[in-house]
Amino acid sequence: MKKIIALGGSNSKNSINKSLAAYVAHSLHDVDVDLLDLHTIDIPMYGIDQEQEHGIPERITEIDEKMGKVDGIVVSLAEHNGAYTAAFKSFYDWLSRVDKKVWKDKPMFLMATSPGGRGGLTVLGIAEKGFPFLGGHIITTFSLPFFGKNFSTDGILDVEKATELKEKLQLFQQAL
Ligand SMILES: Cc1cc2nc3c(=O)[nH]c(=O)nc-3n(C[C@H](O)[C@H](O)[C@H](O)COP(=O)(O)O)c2cc1C
Repeated sequence: MKKIIALGGSNSKNSINKSLAAYVAHSLHDVDVDLLDLHTIDIPMYGIDQEQEHGIPERITEIDEKMGKVDGIVVSLAEHNGAYTAAFKSFYDWLSRVDKKVWKDKPMFLMATSPGGRGGLTVLGIAEKGFPFLGGHIITTFSLPFFGKNFSTDGILDVEKATELKEKLQLFQQAL
């Protein structure tokens, strides 16, 4: 049984990216999925004064340890004004203070989705370029546009996107 972390890059309770990350992680074979939910991970916003005065939150060091023990990471990023959400960026910055290799060179399936037609491609591009500098080993990427129309818990409704995801899932499964 392979251990997978699934993460939506948003603190929305009903995050569409959390749903996509969970769906994709659970579509893998023989995996134990740990869904990290930024809505319930209660940490202060990163700032140097916060860190110097109160230290790194225990929840962050726990997650850093967890990252080191898993076989793969599934991330789906939400896009806010063409960039990471503030919640994800703060989470990421905290993790980078424990270990610069945030993603521990673990195989990563990197995704983004949005309600609109670009499917979070801008933030996906930012992460694709930036994550490798922090230990990101990106096996494949996937963007799902028009989440509301294209996603159902029974699968991806757009035929081309469903085929693309199936192929990319195989690629990621092999890398685990
Ligand atoms: C402040 C803000 C900025 C946003 N900026 C973008 C954007 O740049 N590109 C985009 O595709 N969607 C944008 N959206 C819409 C989000 O994609 C949408 O809220 C989506 O549900 C966020 O993902 P989540 O449900 O996982 O939080 C923005 C939404 C908010 C609230």
